[in-house]
Amino acid sequence: MGSIDEIKERLDIVDVISSYIPLKKAGHNYKALCPFHSEKTPSFVVFPDTQTWHCFGACSTGGDVFNFVMRHENIEFGEALRLLAERAGVSLEPRREGAQAEAKLKDRLRKINALAAEYFHYLLLQSPQGALARDYLVKRGISEETRKRFRLGYARDDWEALGNHLTSKGYSWPDLQEAGLVVAREGGGYYDRFRGRLVFPIRDRGGYVVGFGARALDDSLPKYLNSSQTAIFDKSAVLYGIDQAKKAVREQGFAVIVEGYMDVLMAHQYGRNNVVASMGTALTEKQIRVIKKLSKKLVLALDADAAGDQATLRGLERAKETFDHRAVPVPTARGLIRYENQLDAEIRVATLPSGLDPDEVIKEDVATWDALIDQALPVVEYYLQAVISKFDLHSPKAKVAAAREVLPLIKEIGSAVERSHYLQKLARMLRVDERALQQEMQSKAMAQRSPQAAERYGRLSAQPGLTFGLERYMLLLLLKRPELLASMNALLDGLELEPLAGEDFGTVEERALFEFLSAHIAQHEGLDVDVLRQEVEASLGQALDSVLSLMESIAFLSDEQAELDASRCVLRLRESRLRRHSEKLGHLQQDARAQNDGDAVKQWGQMVNGLTRQLVRVQREEAAHTSLRSSRLETS
Ligand code: UTP
Ligand code: MN
Repeated sequence: MGSIDEIKERLDIVDVISSYIPLKKAGHNYKALCPFHSEKTPSFVVFPDTQTWHCFGACSTGGDVFNFVMRHENIEFGEALRLLAERAGVSLEPRREGAQAEAKLKDRLRKINALAAEYFHYLLLQSPQGALARDYLVKRGISEETRKRFRLGYARDDWEALGNHLTSKGYSWPDLQEAGLVVAREGGGYYDRFRGRLVFPIRDRGGYVVGFGARALDDSLPKYLNSSQTAIFDKSAVLYGIDQAKKAVREQGFAVIVEGYMDVLMAHQYGRNNVVASMGTALTEKQIRVIKKLSKKLVLALDADAAGDQATLRGLERAKETFDHRAVPVPTARGLIRYENQLDAEIRVATLPSGLDPDEVIKEDVATWDALIDQALPVVEYYLQAVISKFDLHSPKAKVAAAREVLPLIKEIGSAVERSHYLQKLARMLRVDERALQQEMQSKAMAQRSPQAAERYGRLSAQPGLTFGLERYMLLLLLKRPELLASMNALLDGLELEPLAGEDFGTVEERALFEFLSAHIAQHEGLDVDVLRQEVEASLGQALDSVLSLMESIAFLSDEQAELDASRCVLRLRESRLRRHSEKLGHLQQDARAQNDGDAVKQWGQMVNGLTRQLVRVQREEAAHTSLRSSRLETS
C-alpha cells in the first residue's frame, strides 16, 4: 500500500476536519459553515462514507482529507503529506535520500568509466600488447590523430587486467560490475567484459564517457560487444560521436546518422564532422530528441540493401517485431513520418551503394559521399520511389497494389498541404487521377490496413481506465501537448462548463500533479521536462516520473488523435465529477427528507437539477465525440 492510502486508512476525515472547525451532525453526514468563504447558513458538508468533503456554496469545491488540509493550512501537497503522515503515524519513504544516492551512483560510474577509458587509451597508444590493435587500425586507415580525438583504446587479452587496474585505484569489483565493465562469475569473482578488443568510448553530449563498444580484431563473434545497460548507459538514448559532432551539426544545420563506429571515425577523419552513429539499432525517438536540440534536420545514411528492405513495409514491421536489431537499422517508414510530425524534425534518406558502408565510401572518394548526402530525399519521397519501383506500372492491378502500399504512409503526414503534395506526386507517378487516390485513401479497405491505429482506438475507447487510468492519461497528454489545456477549456466553455480543475481529478496525487502542471503551463507557456522535474515538489516527483515514463507509449499519437483523446478524457473526468457531486447531493436530500426539512429538500433538489443539466451536456458531447472518432477511424 502506498503511503497515501495508508494515511487515508488510518485517519478519519471527520476527526481531522473537526480539529480545524466545529462540525455538526446532520443525518449521516456533518455540516459546518464553510471555512473557505464567508456564509451564514452552512453549506460545507463532510461525508464519512466516502471520506470526502464538499462546499455546496460559493466555493463549489471539495476533495479528500489532503485537499482540505492543503487548503486550510495553505500548504502544498508535500507538506500536507508530511503533516498527515505524522498524525497517522505513517513513515514516508525518503525520496530525497533516494535521489541523492542515485546522483552519487551516477557520479561514481562516470569516474569509473573515465578511468577505464584512460587506461584503454594508454594501452592502445603505448603498450606492447596494443600493437595488434594499432596494426588493425592502420589496416583500416584510421589515422593517429583520429585515434586520439576519439580516445580509442585497447582492452588486453586478459581476464582481469582492467579489473585489477581499477580496484588498485580504490573501486570495488561490485562497483565495476555496476559500471558494466566486469561480469560476475558463477562460482564467485569477476572477469573483464572486454578482452583483446579495440575499444570505442561512448560519450554523451557533455563529453562524459557513459559506456564502451569494443570490436573484435579478427572474425570472432560477436563483432562488437557493448557495455551493459547501466544507470548512465542507455544504448537507445546515445549517439556515438555526438560530443565531437555537436558543433558541426549546429553550424551546418543538419546531422548525418550512420550505423557504425567505424563510419563515424572515417567521416570525421575526412572533416565530415556532423556525423554520428545510432550504433546499429533502429534510430529511436530519444536519439532524435538528442539531435533536435542541435538541429531539426537529419539525414539517414542507409545501405542500399537495407533501404530496399525498408521499402517492403510489411516485411519491415514484422522484422521490427522480432527485435532483431541488426535487421532494422531505422524505424519503419511510418515510424519515421510520425517522428517527423511529432518531433517537428525533417528527416531525409541518403542511399549508399549496395553493400558499402559509409566508411568505405568515404575512404574511396569523399566527394561521392558528399554528393550522396546532398541528394538525400525527404523521407516520404524516398519511400514513394522505393515502393513504386517494385511494381510494374503497366498493369492496373499493380497500380492499385502500389497505391495501397503507399497511401497509408501518406496518411501519416501531419500537414494537409504536404499530404496533398505527395498525393499529387503519387498520382503523377502512377498516372492515375488524384481524386481516385483520395477516395482510395478514405475507403474502408484502407482503414483496415491500419491495424495499429484501430487497436489503439479500440483499447482507449473501450477501457481507458485499464490502459493508463483516465486521470494519468489526461496528465500524460498535457505533458506531451501542454497547449491542449487551453483547447480543452475552450471545449468546456462552449458547453457552458467550468474549466478543467483539480476537482476533476478524483485521486489526490493526480489532482496535485494537475494543479502543478496547469500552473506551470500558465506561467511558462509550454513545458520543459527538465524544469518540471526541478520544480516539482519532492513528494510528487515519483508520481511525475511515473507519468513521464509512459511518454514512450504514446510517442506515435498524432496531434489530431491526441486532441480527440484529450477531449474524451476531459468529458469523462467531468462526467464522473458531476456524478460524484450529485450523488453527494442526493444523500443530503435524503437526510433532509428524513428530517422533514422541506426547504432543504428543495434547495438540494435544485442543485441536483443544475448538475443533471450539466451532465446531459457532457454526455451529449461525449456521444458526438464517439461518432466523430469512429468516422475518423475509418478515414485515418
Ligand atoms: P557493422 O557491422 O556495420 O559494423 O555494425 P561497423 O561499425 O561497420 O564495423 P566494421 O566496419 O565492420 O568494422 C554497425 C554497428 O552496429 C553495432 C555497432 O555499433 C556497429 O558499429 N553492432 C554491430 C553491435 O552493437 N554489435 C554487433 O555485434 C554488431
Ligand atoms: Mn563497416
